[in-house]
Parts: sequence; structure tokens; C-alpha cells
Amino acid sequence: SMADELFGFNDLALQLQHILHIPKVIVVAGDVDVSEWGKKELGRVGARILKQVVQEGDVVAVTGGSTIVSVAEHVTPSSHFRDVQFVPARGGLGEKVEMQANTIASSLAAKSGGTYHLLHVPDRLSPDVVQSLLGEAQIAEVMQLLHKTRVVIHGIGDGMAMAMRRKYTEEELEVLRELGAVGEAFGYYFNAAGETIYKMPTIGLSLEDVKRADVVLSLGGGSSKAKAIMAFAKQACQTVLITDEGAARAILEEH
Ligand code: BG6
Repeated sequence: SMADELFGFNDLALQLQHILHIPKVIVVAGDVDVSEWGKKELGRVGARILKQVVQEGDVVAVTGGSTIVSVAEHVTPSSHFRDVQFVPARGGLGEKVEMQANTIASSLAAKSGGTYHLLHVPDRLSPDVVQSLLGEAQIAEVMQLLHKTRVVIHGIGDGMAMAMRRKYTEEELEVLRELGAVGEAFGYYFNAAGETIYKMPTIGLSLEDVKRADVVLSLGGGSSKAKAIMAFAKQACQTVLITDEGAARAILEEH
């Protein structure tokens, strides 16, 4: 309705706050599954909220993905970003360079006037490689910063869609399917009950670090992400969820 368009789907947002137990939900118009245009709106709102929550000297952990790319595109310079350090949340999650957390951290810094760090880690590490990488000075420095994360800004993905995007083998996909992987965030896969069923073997921000952060901004739109959004909400760590009408209505139907 006209009122919804004007007031940003406030009623839908309130219902989601109640169902998902997230303090603040913002619902933008559209469904990114139907039209990519809605991603601009998610990014615009994401950039606005980010500016509201950052404080001088913050460490902000950022993930990859097209939604967070859109946030970076909408950030503008502001004194709010003084001495803010953008750090990629986790390394090696199999994204194209344009959508990698490293790339987004550097563009967020360029757009906002903050600074950035990079976490250069290959995909899929064996346990001994994890240990030796953590011993590298450059990586240890970034890990130290990540443990000081005050703000997290991240995307949410459909579990199977993310596994396919990461080019898992048929066998691996089958395992995830059987485990009921409906949601994904920063390399963790969740079942419908919100339990972690698989964690990508890489380094960076852990779910415990996310839970310790003061502010967790989650972004994800599209009706296909409804189950993923519901699953991740069970982790009970989000401060703000920015989603779209498509996802919001699908969540209400699922509920
Ligand atoms: C990835 C993150 O880069 O982006 C994932 O590592 C996230 O955790 C995904 O689920 C979301 O991507 P998009 O393109 O749907 O915003």
C-alpha cells in the first residue's frame, strides 16, 4: 500500500521483530529475487545504519557478498568514520574478487574515510595450515583486531545456494542437504533449528566473536532467504536486520 511505501513497511518490520526476536528490523520495498534493484535499497539503508552505529576508533568486521557490496557503494565520507578500521571477517570463502570481504573492506574504507586491513587466506585450509598461518605476524595482527570487533556487518545466504556458489562437489552438497543446511553466514552453515552443522575450514571471526560484538548488522533480502534468516536469528546475536518485503512476507508464511 501507499502507507507501506511511505513508512517503510513498519508493520511488517514490527511483526518480524516479534517473530525473530531481533531488537530492530527494517524492511525495504521489493524482493531481490525478482528484481536486483532492491539490493540498492538494502545497501542504502545499510550504509545509513552503519553510519549511525559506528564510533571513533571502532573495528568493523565485514563479510563478502553482493548485498554488502551494495552497502559499500552507498557509504559516504563522514566524521563518524574517524579512525574506524574495516577488517574482513573471514578469509577464503570462495567468492569472486569483487564480492570478497577483502575487497569490500578496502572500498568501505575508501568511501568512508576509514582504514582497512586485509586477510589473505586461501580457501579450505587443513588444520596444520591453519596453525602455521595463525603464527604469521601479518595474520596474527588481523586476528587480534578481529577479536576487538565492536561492529559486524554481514550478509546472510541460503545454505544450499551458498554451497553451490562455492562450488562444492556433489557429495559435499548431498551431505549438507542431509544435514538440513538452510542458512549460511560468515562460512557457518545452520539448520532450521539454528544449530551450526558445518563450519568452513578457514580463519577469522568466529561465531563467538560475533556474539561478543556490541552491534551486529545483518543484511539479506529475497523470499529465497526466508529460511536462512529465520535459522540465523536463532543465534540470538543480531542488533539490526535489514531485509526486504519479499523475505519478510515469506518469513510470515513460514512462521
Ligand atoms: C558471502 C558471505 O560473501 O556472502 C556469506 O561469506 C553470505 O556469509 C553471502 O551469506 C551473502 O551473499 P549475497 O550475495 O546474497 O549478499
